[in-house]
Amino acid sequence: MATITQTLIDRDEVHEISLKTKEIKFHDLPTPQEYDIPLPPPSVNPTEILEVDKGTPDSHVPRDPRLIRLTGVHPFNVEPPLTALYKEGFLTSPELFYVRNHGPVPQVRDEDIPDWELSIEGLVENPITLSFREILEKYDQITTPITLVCAGNRRKEQNTVRKSKGFSWGPAGLSTALWTGPMMADILRSAKPLRKAKYVCMEGADKLPNGYYGTSVKLNWAMDFNRGIMLAHKMNGEDLRPDHGRPLRAVVPGQIGGRSVKWLKRLIVTEAPSDNWYHINDNRVLPTMISPEMSATSTEWWTDERYAIYDLNVNSVAAFPEHEEVLDLATAGSAYTVKGYAYAGGGRRITRVEISLDKGKTWRLAEIDYAEDKYRDFEGDLFGGKVDMWKRESCFCWSFWSLRIPVSDLENSEALLVRAMDDGMMVQPRDMYWSVLGMMNNPWFRVTITKEGNTLKFEHPTHPSRAGGWMEKAKKAGGDLTNGNWGEKIEGEAPVEPEPVKEINMKKEGLARMIDLQELKANSSAEKPWFVVNGEVYDGTGFLEGHPGGAISITSSAGLDVSEDFLAIHSETAKAMMPDYHIGTLDKASLEALNSGSTAVSNDPRPIFLQSRSWAKMKLSEVKTVSWDTRVFVFDLEHDKQTLGLPIGQHLMIKVPDPTNKEAIIRSYTPVSETNMEGKMELLVKIYFPADKIPGGKMTMALDALAIGAEIDCKGPTGRFEYLGNGRVTISGKERKVRSFKMICGGTGLTPIFQVLRAVMQDPQDPTTCVVLDGNRLEEDILCRAELDAYVALDSRKCTVVHTLSQASENWVGRRGRISEDLIKEFVAPEEGSMVIICGPEAMEKSARKILLDQGWAESDLHFF
Ligand code: MTE
Repeated sequence: MATITQTLIDRDEVHEISLKTKEIKFHDLPTPQEYDIPLPPPSVNPTEILEVDKGTPDSHVPRDPRLIRLTGVHPFNVEPPLTALYKEGFLTSPELFYVRNHGPVPQVRDEDIPDWELSIEGLVENPITLSFREILEKYDQITTPITLVCAGNRRKEQNTVRKSKGFSWGPAGLSTALWTGPMMADILRSAKPLRKAKYVCMEGADKLPNGYYGTSVKLNWAMDFNRGIMLAHKMNGEDLRPDHGRPLRAVVPGQIGGRSVKWLKRLIVTEAPSDNWYHINDNRVLPTMISPEMSATSTEWWTDERYAIYDLNVNSVAAFPEHEEVLDLATAGSAYTVKGYAYAGGGRRITRVEISLDKGKTWRLAEIDYAEDKYRDFEGDLFGGKVDMWKRESCFCWSFWSLRIPVSDLENSEALLVRAMDDGMMVQPRDMYWSVLGMMNNPWFRVTITKEGNTLKFEHPTHPSRAGGWMEKAKKAGGDLTNGNWGEKIEGEAPVEPEPVKEINMKKEGLARMIDLQELKANSSAEKPWFVVNGEVYDGTGFLEGHPGGAISITSSAGLDVSEDFLAIHSETAKAMMPDYHIGTLDKASLEALNSGSTAVSNDPRPIFLQSRSWAKMKLSEVKTVSWDTRVFVFDLEHDKQTLGLPIGQHLMIKVPDPTNKEAIIRSYTPVSETNMEGKMELLVKIYFPADKIPGGKMTMALDALAIGAEIDCKGPTGRFEYLGNGRVTISGKERKVRSFKMICGGTGLTPIFQVLRAVMQDPQDPTTCVVLDGNRLEEDILCRAELDAYVALDSRKCTVVHTLSQASENWVGRRGRISEDLIKEFVAPEEGSMVIICGPEAMEKSARKILLDQGWAESDLHFF
């Protein structure tokens, strides 16, 4: 019998054990050849806190910079680069192991670990609380290899077909480690589950917006040796690292990673499945026809246990050829070895992996390396746990497959397809099963092959963080990714008619006046703002008062060619108004001179970020998730001491490239950060994802696709309204005094309103009162709710907030329905010295205007942002 790392078996002092494990050196271990088992790859435990993590709740967690962040800086959700993962071999080093954290990593001090407590409660005869020390001392320890797979693995493919509610994982949302710890069954047995007990609920120590993370599995699975459910305190022979559940986690083999609760604190034996928010709202494959909207309006989908995911489904991916690999035919040799991974769920074995080069008409059989089986022959201790895999046949690990293919065959193929089958004869499907959470994506893995000169270029469906991949290309080319032909046109398929582009005439009929640069420049003052769009000159003087963005929107364009911005932000209606302001055509030489003119730039750090006449760049530094569709995007200004320079109640223009065609998208936004915040700006944005036939919001999706570090352009301020404090308001430069604000908003329309409300509430001397009527669909759609509640709590005479929900749940005790006549009558009756400020969807603003005017408000007392 072999004993590896005997020192670890000394259980006198658990803390000692935990420290000793750090000293494992791989040269102390028997060589793999000696025992013929794969041992962990060389590993370096990172000690540095990465710059991006500083200032986040995870500023105590050292990490490997190679990991690809999928949800911005925080929470930490990452996958390794696929090639690096594959090259590590059967076992993954802890620093490259994928991470899925719903929130901050609990901070656990080394010295507190021996006293870490796990309670076993609920339907048990003998409720107990065990310390970490007892868990190691009193229970048999096992060591076994297990692959964990996130249910979202390969989700980016689903999101490319149609945005799901989940973030995009590439094909590396999985990893394998040797786990050490006791069987969960032994722990449960000590507490003696009662007869009617059916489930084991698990709860972690990570406090999240909807409670602690938790989920459940069936009790009989936990008690079944063949299902291998265990608790782990070591990974590849080392103490668990913070991201992976230090000091104790559950490991549920063969099931989705979401069931393996990290930072484990409680096991609760119950009659029913877990009622934890994360168990109900996550890890489900809802029927494919359920749209994000349908899923949001009815809870029945989320509590139907038939849709909950437990066992993994069969899946496979090619790691080689790599995404964007180029094979030089001159040096390639006669054959190329295609290789990758495959896994199945529920302990099932992968029984075949097949490759097709002709769209699935014929298949070739790949070789499979069942590295996991090697541990079945090994009997003894490994890292302080017994390897007892000889007793069971279940397969809980991925296997690597490979196939040598003649290069000439690759040359004659357009795409390579991979599919695997398990011992339940379940084979990966050709077509994707799209579902609202985008989970368990497992269609045939397809790598396209394109001949470019004397090379072959390979492309995977997607890349986890970058644009590109054959799916995006096919979609951009107008292909339907669900047509059964991977978005490529099927012979005989009716061509898709491109939507005709409506041309709006912006020129005055019959006008033939030529204007030169000198004349343009002579008329580029705030009083006489001439500007250029598409080579034509417009005089904005007559629209200074009427422009919804305020006079500044026009004066800031004076003397400039503003074609790009103008065309990007103006509606067809606005463009149709342009002939009235058209005064001539700028001659060709003047246009060239205007656009080549360099502007002298000073290198001195600017104290104020926003400039009304030119774009300035800010950098995305963090994305905070507020809910599945709402984020706070945090941008760094040019330096730490710089302020945004946005007057209260005004907006700024943001320019972002459309990720699909790189065209500039420009929209006006009001940040939620305070206007005097230094060095940063925070933007609260609700992402409008596509649904059914309604396309998604271009700008919000482009913002959502921004990588950390990406730059956006901003210009401003814009807006006719400004709040000066103490009830003083200016509208288009004219000052008025207000005693009370009636604020009506819907959805993200809250943001400009919120700036004004905050200014009033933060100044104890400001006597202005505010009534906020806030309309939303669902309770979770209410933005800045905590802040609104805090203002009411601070001074309920000065601030009243009324929420109304159009699709409220049964439990909602507030107002129901849209912002109606009755509600406006009750809270927004005309009043001397007060004004109404409104921001929301067009339909809501229109109906509010009508109701307010009918009730006797004067148009001049209403301001629409
Ligand atoms: N446990 C806690 N306490 N909190 C979490 O956010 N995430 C789950 C699971 N256990 C999670 C958790 C999910 S969805 C997955 S896929 C796995 O942890 C990922 O484990 P890893 O981060 O160690 O790879």
